[in-house]
Amino acid sequence: MTGIAFLLNGTPVRAEGESPVRTLLDWLRETRGLKGTKEGCNEGDCGACTVMVTDEQGTRALNACILFLPQIHGKAVRTVEGLSGPTGALHPVQEAMITHHASQCGFCTPGIAVSLAVAHLNGENAYDDTLAGNLCRCTGYAPIIRAAGAAARAPVPDWLGSSALTGVFASDERPQGSEEHGFHPRTADELAGLYAQHPKATLIAGATDIGLWVTKQFRDIPVPIFLNSIAEFQKIEHSGETIRIGAGVTIARLRAALTGPHPAFAELLRRFASAQVRAAATIGGNIANGSPIGDGPPALIALGARLHLRRGATRREIPLEDFFIEYRKQDRHPGEFVEAVTIPAAAPALRCYKLSKRFDQDISAVCGCFNLTLRDGHIVTARIAFGGMAGIPKRASHTEAALTGQAWSEPTIRAAMAALAEEFAPLSDMRASASYRLRAAQNMLLRCFHDLNGVPVSVLEVAP
Ligand SMILES: Cc1cc2nc3c(=O)[nH]c(=O)nc-3n(C[C@H](O)[C@H](O)[C@H](O)COP(=O)(O)OP(=O)(O)OC[C@H]3O[C@@H](n4cnc5c(N)ncnc54)[C@H](O)[C@@H]3O)c2cc1C
Ligand code: FES
Ligand code: FES
Repeated sequence: MTGIAFLLNGTPVRAEGESPVRTLLDWLRETRGLKGTKEGCNEGDCGACTVMVTDEQGTRALNACILFLPQIHGKAVRTVEGLSGPTGALHPVQEAMITHHASQCGFCTPGIAVSLAVAHLNGENAYDDTLAGNLCRCTGYAPIIRAAGAAARAPVPDWLGSSALTGVFASDERPQGSEEHGFHPRTADELAGLYAQHPKATLIAGATDIGLWVTKQFRDIPVPIFLNSIAEFQKIEHSGETIRIGAGVTIARLRAALTGPHPAFAELLRRFASAQVRAAATIGGNIANGSPIGDGPPALIALGARLHLRRGATRREIPLEDFFIEYRKQDRHPGEFVEAVTIPAAAPALRCYKLSKRFDQDISAVCGCFNLTLRDGHIVTARIAFGGMAGIPKRASHTEAALTGQAWSEPTIRAAMAALAEEFAPLSDMRASASYRLRAAQNMLLRCFHDLNGVPVSVLEVAP
């Protein structure tokens, strides 16, 4: 019977008797008095609560406000208080933030310093991406980015080097498992048994959706089962023509793995939330959550992904599009869980377009993914899927039919755009009106036509 054990700013600590859905942010501030980690939005959006977390997979920035204590068992956590050295020496990022006048009110500053210290440690310099999940509303980003660039020249301080982590992973003990405190299976077999026994349990992967059920909706989470220790769920397996992606693979790891085989999908994932959310969110959670505006499913459906489901010892495999039945209703039986998803290893013409009000850290208004095969000036096959156009992520079968076998020409595309208008009746909501969504989806098809013809269409490029 043990609590949650981890390294906090280099010192081993143990959280005993806490609720399994106690957030790290609340625990740090209320139990340890570490108030440098701020609460801004409490929903993963602003980054004021960013902490540095290290485990076998490396070091990443995570939002402490939607991170439950059991998720950090066996890991090393550093808060902003732990960025400076034992004798008070500032981290190079902290020094540079001062030198470059990169803070005014300072509320966002601790989270920004932690995010930049993680980037510094990992040798990353794409600061727009690093900071997409750290909102600063008074300094402005130019001095912050200048500070990041200046700090990059300094070495990683000794106290953050790998030696500081020695010992934290030695223990194989796991936290107490019970209905009240939650379960922590290590294998898919163990999960299958537990979930069959407790079909009303809540599976918790990255908690980037479930975190908000707790912090915003104040929901009870019956019998939490934490999935982050299941080794099989972490695998990405390349086998000839397919890639099998375990349910627990984070969006950050998936993005890195897809950069070679599916660059358009990888680029779409760059715009999935922020670095902090991508480092926690899993592809299994993105699928199982069943959101009509999740970014993973449209790309996966366009690729012809197969979903691997398991209940007890029974496994089944279905086309991903069949999993989504209607708004928030999926083809998933009690006690059944997502094990993995398989995609083809190559689809050179895959194109993915995300339209949202902000470029970064925003949910799609429309997400369109197009996977066409062209031969001798004709469209041989077409797989198209949209998010944001229906109550579920949905394949555009009529539009595909209007394209298949036709000449690769603008008139063909215009005819398919008309077919698209016949098969979707999107909703109006705060993100976009129905007519805007429809027009945007049609124009994405036209964009795909130009894109595959070599016309630059990236929204990051300004064409003359
Ligand atoms: C600030 C912010 C920005 C976001 N931006 C985006 C965005 O741009 N695009 C986007 O698509 N999403 C976005 N999201 C939503 C969220 O990050 C994703 O849906 C994420 O992929 C969920 O994964 P998770 O591992 O965190 O799931 P969790 O929150 O742990 O779980 C989500 C659901 O899936 C279930 N589940 C998890 N794993 C399994 C499994 N293996 N088998 C069965 N059920 C399972 C859970 O029980 C729960 O019902 C955002 C969220 C936040 C907080
Ligand atoms: S408090 Fe805003 S992301 Fe955590
Ligand atoms: S310094 Fe005030 S919000 Fe960033």
